[in-house]
Amino acid sequence: AAVKKYQFDIQVKNVSRLCHEKPIVTVNGMFPGPTVYVREGDRLLINVTNFAQYNMSIHWHGLKQYRNGWADGPAYVTQCPVQTGQSYTYDFNVTGQRGTLWWHAHISWLRATVYGAIVIMPKQGTSYPFPQPDFEFNLLLGEWWNDDVETVVKQGNKLGLPPKTSDAHTINGKPGPLFPCSEKHTYAVEVEQGKTYLLRIINAALNDELFFAVAGHNMTVVEIDAVYTKPFSTNAVLIAPGQTTNVLLRANQAPGRYFMAARPFMDAPISVDNKTATAILQYKGIQNTIIPSLPQLPALNDSAFALNYNAKLRSLNSPRFPAKVPLNVDRHLFYTIGLGVNPCPTCQNGTQLTASLNNITFVMPQTALLQAHYFNLRGVFTTDFPDRPPTPFNYTGAPLTANLQTTKSNRPRLSKIAFNSTVELVLQDTNLLSVESHPFHLHGYNFFVVGSGIGNFDPKNDPAKFNLVDPPERNTVGVPTGGWTAIRFRADNPGVWFMHCHLEVHTGWGLKTAFVVEDGPDADHSVLPPPKDLPPC
Ligand code: C2O
Repeated sequence: AAVKKYQFDIQVKNVSRLCHEKPIVTVNGMFPGPTVYVREGDRLLINVTNFAQYNMSIHWHGLKQYRNGWADGPAYVTQCPVQTGQSYTYDFNVTGQRGTLWWHAHISWLRATVYGAIVIMPKQGTSYPFPQPDFEFNLLLGEWWNDDVETVVKQGNKLGLPPKTSDAHTINGKPGPLFPCSEKHTYAVEVEQGKTYLLRIINAALNDELFFAVAGHNMTVVEIDAVYTKPFSTNAVLIAPGQTTNVLLRANQAPGRYFMAARPFMDAPISVDNKTATAILQYKGIQNTIIPSLPQLPALNDSAFALNYNAKLRSLNSPRFPAKVPLNVDRHLFYTIGLGVNPCPTCQNGTQLTASLNNITFVMPQTALLQAHYFNLRGVFTTDFPDRPPTPFNYTGAPLTANLQTTKSNRPRLSKIAFNSTVELVLQDTNLLSVESHPFHLHGYNFFVVGSGIGNFDPKNDPAKFNLVDPPERNTVGVPTGGWTAIRFRADNPGVWFMHCHLEVHTGWGLKTAFVVEDGPDADHSVLPPPKDLPPC
């Protein structure tokens, strides 16, 4: 195994898009940031030095960080921020994982511009469980705001309303020629007739689940969230913020220029956001002047496509890559996801939108939770997060005003999980204010998505329909609008692990919690000691 080193300088840089120039926070002046290349089994040393006037923290999304939450990155959960002028080295091993993941800032909304790809090559001497592609490229889907994003967030908070949506979607930081002044801000890739390409697609958008398609070409899905899947062919991919999808694409069409395009899947009538990002797939030897055609993307509200697409996702579950689904459950958790309204004396309207799990709106601490846990600091958090909602109700029926208000405590309330126990968590969307899809991300683990459905979860009949053979294994899952999703995992990674909706707007409203997974029986199964340069709180 090798040691791979990277230097990440956090710098502010002027970037122009859509006829606007503005300073953005970057890594090494790049937008999107540099790709981290690593091989399964390697150790990564990534030194982050902060030259910007913003606190910073970087998360390696989907990396399991076994016993090593110190390298996980969410601010105030596993570490305090790297302040201006400070440095911190994220030091971690990449074990038992290969595929596409990504990294991003994990503080406020800075991930709007601070993100990049992580490519984990399979172990030396091992191959992909699918035909070897000839070439590969990354496609990072994102969003662009003409205004300063931190200001946008602050304004939203002040009004107690959702902040305004982005001005464009982007592919590799570029919106493409359908936007003003964007001809030169168009990502283009050249392909050769007959060759096969591996596309590593990452949804780095702050708030939008996206459809992605390539005009004239089908794609074969082979991996999601760095886990191999049973291959299937599709004309469009659906990808939620936080998720990654690898597809094979064969350049087997008439040589020409083809648009690749990304546009939101808006299954809730919250906002109208139909801005389409485009990039160009161009066959070798073809003139730049040919106008590409647009792909057929599913309609903005095509939830039938979404259900059907998600149902096709299955773990590969081969002898080399078995799906180790927990068959017995030690701990049953049931969390309702709510959007509601709370009083807010400092807000312009006197109220503010809030989000909750089991009617609890998470409050961020001042000290990092992992440090409080490791050093046994009292008073930072409690471990009384309820395993189920206070009072069961018809979750997806008519909204009950009684449930609109959420409770907020001074300290975060977490859930304590016994080491190596098997956990089943049902996430149930509710109709408290509106129903919306929520991409839930768990740090420190992959989980199996054993079941999902529309309406209320039925504990009598639904578990019998769970897929315990080859369910998709991932780190981020979409809880469908007005429905539920059941996940299972084995709590074999001690530490404090964040779990949250990967829509930044909902995370900001409190749609998050954390699990304290207790240490194992001996030192080899316990949280590692913190690194010397861990930023002080
Ligand atoms: Cu990709 Cu906690 O985030």
